[in-house]
Amino acid sequence: MTEQLSGLTLIKGHIIEAKTFGDPVITENGYLAVEDGVVKGVFADLPAEFVGAKVEDYSGKLILQGFSDMHLHAPQYPMLGMGMDLPLMDWLKTYTFKTEARFSDNDFARMAYSRLAADLVNNGTTRVCIYSSIHTDATLILMEELEKAGIGGYVGKVNMDRASGECQELTEESKRETLRWLDESTRFTHVKPILTPRFTPSCTNELMDWLGKVANERGVYVQSHLSENKREIELVKELHPDCEQYWQTYDKYGLWTDHTIMAHCVHSDAREQQAMIDHNVLCVHCPDSNINICSGFAPVRQMKERGVWVALGSDIAGGAQLPMLQVLTGCLRMSKARAIATEGKEPFLTVGEAYYLATSAGSRYFGDADGFAPGNPLHAVVLDETRLPPSARELTVKERFERAVYLADDRSIAAVYGGGKKIK
Ligand code: GUN
Ligand code: FE
Repeated sequence: MTEQLSGLTLIKGHIIEAKTFGDPVITENGYLAVEDGVVKGVFADLPAEFVGAKVEDYSGKLILQGFSDMHLHAPQYPMLGMGMDLPLMDWLKTYTFKTEARFSDNDFARMAYSRLAADLVNNGTTRVCIYSSIHTDATLILMEELEKAGIGGYVGKVNMDRASGECQELTEESKRETLRWLDESTRFTHVKPILTPRFTPSCTNELMDWLGKVANERGVYVQSHLSENKREIELVKELHPDCEQYWQTYDKYGLWTDHTIMAHCVHSDAREQQAMIDHNVLCVHCPDSNINICSGFAPVRQMKERGVWVALGSDIAGGAQLPMLQVLTGCLRMSKARAIATEGKEPFLTVGEAYYLATSAGSRYFGDADGFAPGNPLHAVVLDETRLPPSARELTVKERFERAVYLADDRSIAAVYGGGKKIK
């Protein structure tokens, strides 16, 4: 199924790199040189030393970077496209915890997660930071299915020992299962564990404190949710009257550290944003989810200007769009809603900027440099525009890229490379 690129391979086509948060860098009819799955460079003309190397010829096609989905909930895949009529806290109680509870059944988990992994690859998502449910065995099944499909990243067994309906764990059980899961996770190569206190309302102080210590002692990263919804923020204030701001409820327990991932941050003010900058916390913007469950319009332009590290997530199944191309265009639409609401004072994001958020901003989390930088493992998506509408004139490659971002679906994704392997 997956095939390692061995020796030197030249991938030929129009190469489109998100080297900065801005216009993409386009190398027309270029060569992406890859050695044993690792990028050696992008070349407009074939260097003499590479003549004779194996060529994977996508001449005329667009070669984009692989997408990183930095926030999604695997056990919510079965409820995709459903139950969008309630705000966050009611949505969790009414639909979400019930669906996640199904993952106590390992056969169901295997079926759902193999399908999710295949759908991610088909849509060009090659790396993820993903939530599982509370179930250790189903979490290990998710890790297996992702690794088998060639997807890399971080997977979290969710911790929740308070106000969590059908999914509530006992505190001791949550700790014990977390340790079992961390021990068993060492068998994976490309997917790693990430500690996942669901969010402050669903974890007792004792559990948060314990998780913070484990994160510190074992050097494991942390993912959670922050300032998504106004009622949620009010509840967090009631639960932690000693904290002025939501982020401090994580900081208090050592969970607000370098590479901590916080989904949403829709209502984070300048001070909360500064705390993200100061601790190198990644904010994951999930536009489709924020609209579906009426959370709000995240100030992405403002966060970027202030220096917050922002990437994109589908937030399945608050978000109803798994393809990161859809998340990318959803991000553009939301930024336009903000531009309309501010009468242009807050300029909307460009396609190139959103492409950066969907690719390089996330790949940095995994240690990559921006674009197809030498030393990065190859993560790439080849787009074939044959199915797109006929154009009235010859388009530039930049125009073709922008159009494909809006119009391409999995049928237009001709090939996908993840972690140096061809995975589609
Ligand atoms: N906050 C806590 N859990 C969730 C979840 O599953 N989805 C979203 N969107 N927000 C959350
Ligand atoms: Fe979420």
